[in-house]
Amino acid sequence: GSEDPSTTCCPHRGPHKKTTRWHIDLEPWAGETHSLEDEARRFLNYITTPQVSCVPPASGGAVLETSQEGPWAVCLDSKYSLAHKIHSKPCRVYSLGLGVAERVLERSLGGAGCEVHCFDPSLRQPHLQQGDMWLHKLSVDWRDPNPAISAQRHHGNTKKLATILNDFGHRQLDVLKADMESAEWKILENLILEGVLDSVGQLLLELHLHWAGFEVGGDDPSVVRYWFSLLKELERAHFRLFRSYSDPAKPRLFLHKNVLNASSAYTLGWVNTQWRH
Ligand SMILES: *[C@@H]1O[C@H](CO)[C@@H](O)[C@H](O)[C@H]1NC(C)=O
Repeated sequence: GSEDPSTTCCPHRGPHKKTTRWHIDLEPWAGETHSLEDEARRFLNYITTPQVSCVPPASGGAVLETSQEGPWAVCLDSKYSLAHKIHSKPCRVYSLGLGVAERVLERSLGGAGCEVHCFDPSLRQPHLQQGDMWLHKLSVDWRDPNPAISAQRHHGNTKKLATILNDFGHRQLDVLKADMESAEWKILENLILEGVLDSVGQLLLELHLHWAGFEVGGDDPSVVRYWFSLLKELERAHFRLFRSYSDPAKPRLFLHKNVLNASSAYTLGWVNTQWRH
């Protein structure tokens, strides 16, 4: 007899299986002429306008030693869970990037009782415990390395965040801090497409705007539209901006030129308003 194609082809996906997304949804253009100025104005307005207020606990409830005035700060407002997690159950912090000199926030969160993991590819040994922090010789990428070339080129130290979480058996991160030196766009895209952000309570990210970033292509208005679209995807994943910081001493460079006096770097903090852990 003839085979029924519906029984031989295409196994049915279970309802709980996450479907893989291959690209983010692009937002409409900011203006009809697709000008850089329209795109830049919309994007800069977005990254400098906090969407939720973050009121730290009144004096006496101070859980962190660090001042909240530098570039990096978490939201300790009691309406979000981090403040409670520091007191009651363990909280977990991941710090990605090469900011070896600083780590003020990491030390402070470690001192307050969080489990802090710093990822630093320049370490000599694979893992090292230093005070209240764990250091790992790993760097985070937006794709896992090609197994055929990974042995020589990456020494097996470059992984996607989802892979690291899986390897470590970590299901949630109270804080994810990342300064990826212009790889942040592709990494953020990867976290969105793979649904990793559902596991993250607060996201602290440094954005670099002096050029498009690694593997971000297109003309200038398209680049800014793509950046904006990534941030709108974050919003759809229930992340709300609580903080925007820019060092006034940084150069005024936006895609290699001065556009609306924008800074070349902004440090942003979002809280996942659907975070229940
Ligand atoms: C550009 O921004 C810097 C830093 O915030 C500020 O000091 C300067 O006055 C601004 N320039 C203009 C033309 O707005």
